[in-house]
Formats: sequence, C-alpha cells, structure tokens
Amino acid sequence: MTVSGDIRPVEWLGDRIRILDQTALPAEERYLELRDPKEVARAIRDLAVRGAPLLGIVAGYGMALAAERSAEKGDDALAQDLDRAAARLARSRPTAVNVAWAVRRVSAAAEAAAAGGPEAVRRAVVGEAVAIHREDQAACLAIGEFGAELLPSDANVMTHCNTGSLATGGIGTAQGVIVTAHQAGKRIHVWVNETRPVLQGARLTAWELQRLGLPLTLIADGAAATFMAGRSIDAVVVGADRIAANGDVANKVGTYALAVLADHHRVPFYVAAPVSTIDPNTPTGAEVIIERRNPGEVTEPFGVRIAPEGTRAINPAFDITPGRLITAIITDRGVVRRPFSAGLRRAMAGEPAPTGPGRAATP
Ligand code: MRU
Repeated sequence: MTVSGDIRPVEWLGDRIRILDQTALPAEERYLELRDPKEVARAIRDLAVRGAPLLGIVAGYGMALAAERSAEKGDDALAQDLDRAAARLARSRPTAVNVAWAVRRVSAAAEAAAAGGPEAVRRAVVGEAVAIHREDQAACLAIGEFGAELLPSDANVMTHCNTGSLATGGIGTAQGVIVTAHQAGKRIHVWVNETRPVLQGARLTAWELQRLGLPLTLIADGAAATFMAGRSIDAVVVGADRIAANGDVANKVGTYALAVLADHHRVPFYVAAPVSTIDPNTPTGAEVIIERRNPGEVTEPFGVRIAPEGTRAINPAFDITPGRLITAIITDRGVVRRPFSAGLRRAMAGEPAPTGPGRAATP
C-alpha cells in the first residue's frame, strides 16, 4: 500500500507485520517484525507504532496474527485466542478509541463467519484487518479534500504532535489537510510544535514534512502564544485520539492550551479525524480515560536526565479540548460544526454534513 512520501508505517506480510519503529526516527529508519498479539501490544505501549488511526490498524492486524498463530494449536484454540488478543490489545493504550473500535470490528467479523468453521473465521479476520487499513487510507484522502477547502490560499498553519502517514493508513488527518492544500497549489507554511515530552512534532512531523517538501518552522511548545499574538498563524489543525459524543476532543497533551490560545487570538481551530475516532459511548470529555505514561519520559527523555534525581513528575499523554473551543471537526464524511452532537451523529450514520464541506474558515 503506497502512502504519502512512500512511508509505510505498517505492512501485513501474511504471517507477521512489519512496522517502522517510530522510536528510532528521525535518526534511523529501522523496521520491526511482529508475529503475535503480545509483540503488537508491546510495540503499541512502547510507541514504536502510534497515532490513533494507525493504532486501530495495527490492533486489527494484531487480531489477524492471533488468528494465524492459533492455526498451529488446532482449531479449538481460535475463539479463545481471539478473545485473549482482543483484551490484550484493548488494554495496550487506553485513550485512542480506534484500538477498541478495530478490535470490536474484527471480533464481529469473526463471529459472523463462525458458522463456516475455523478457516472461514481466519479469512474473515484477516480480511477485516486489511479492510480497516484500506478504509483509513481512503478516509485520509477525504479528510484532506474537505479540510483543504477551509484553509486560505496563503496560510500559516500550526499543528501539534504527529498526524501524518506515520499516524494513519494514508496521508494523515490534520497533516492530510495541510498536504492536500499544499498539493492544490495553496502556499502553506507549517508551524510545528515540538510536542513535549516525546517530541512527535520535532522527530516525526518535521521528518515527514521535509520528505514531502513542505516549508516548516519548528518551535518549542511554549512559543505558540508568541506567534499567535504576533498574527503569524492563520489556522490551527490538529488530530484526535477520541471525540466524545458532544464534540469534546482528547488529543496529545498541549492541544487544549493551543485551543485556548487560538480562541483568545481569534484563530480558527480545526480538529481532523476519521469517523472511527468518534466515540458515541463517551458522552463528554470528562469520561475519557487519559493515559498516564512513565514520568521518566519527562525527567529523563530519550535516556538523558534533565531534572535532578528524585524529582516528582506526572506525565498525562493527552488532554481534553472542550468542543466550544473548536471551530469545526473535519471528518471523512464532511465538516461538522457546532452544535457537534447532531453533526457527529449524522457523520457516523453516513449522512451529509449539515453545513457542507466548503464553508469559509470563520472562527
Ligand atoms: O501518543 P501518540 O503519539 O500516539 O499521540 C498521537 C496524537 O495525539 C495524535 O495527534 C492523534 O493520535 C491523531 S493521529 C492522526
């Protein structure tokens, strides 16, 4: 599957998956081969693969590996192995809803094929995982088309974390919007927040944008206010790990601060995500489980101690941006505007967005 800049963050190889180890970027393009759900869950926890849509894709393949592996043990093991893999993968990272969504989708495909016997179940599981991957590639293209129309023809666009090919099955979500606008001939300059503490912006987004030939400026997260105040930023576009039913958005920690800044400086603030990231079972942002990662990522990032030994640190990986701070949510089914609840429901149901894709970028 060819994706933007020919970056292949994951490939299904029949009895294993090959992933680009994102912990080694940008210094090294190193690949890992994963052969069972346990290895997949570890790669997810360690951030070797990351980004909500890609996590869903990889979780789907984790289920496919469980199905393939169980063939060695005999047919009786299949259902139990799938259940065990589903539980393991769903636990791997709690905030991105795409993991649970993909696992549920593959499990449902397995159940639907059960009457046909174990081989039919295996085929159905692998087929569903591959379908999730392909559909995300198409979703990225649609998000890009809908979102690119919202950006002015000459735009300084700020983004946070990494939402490109490394985080999805295609050209990306927020980054897909940016790349599509650039390819449509708009003059886009990208302001990339470094994204403490794991630096997805500096390490991954800057790497991807350079490969794509997009002009960019990397800034420390704390500098965003200065550039918004100086009227250097025309729009902010970010991704999402989970969108609650009311439009509150869980995304990389620091997103909420950016939304407050954008609101204060009257800069349009867009969230771009496929409908698989909308969670109708989470009513508001208050119910989202925010992953807390090892405080060592803050005190000793990449093995370099930057705080005195014994310093207490807390490391929430995500935060919640209230829907009222979001100008619009760009999905693969159209652009959703406030009030978000009805629009998100319609997008999930496949109905056209009430306001249509092409409305002007008014905050
Ligand atoms: O911890 P990460 O790197 O998985 O966090 C990723 C993000 O927060 C992204 O912004 C989000 O998943 C959208 S990815 C298209």
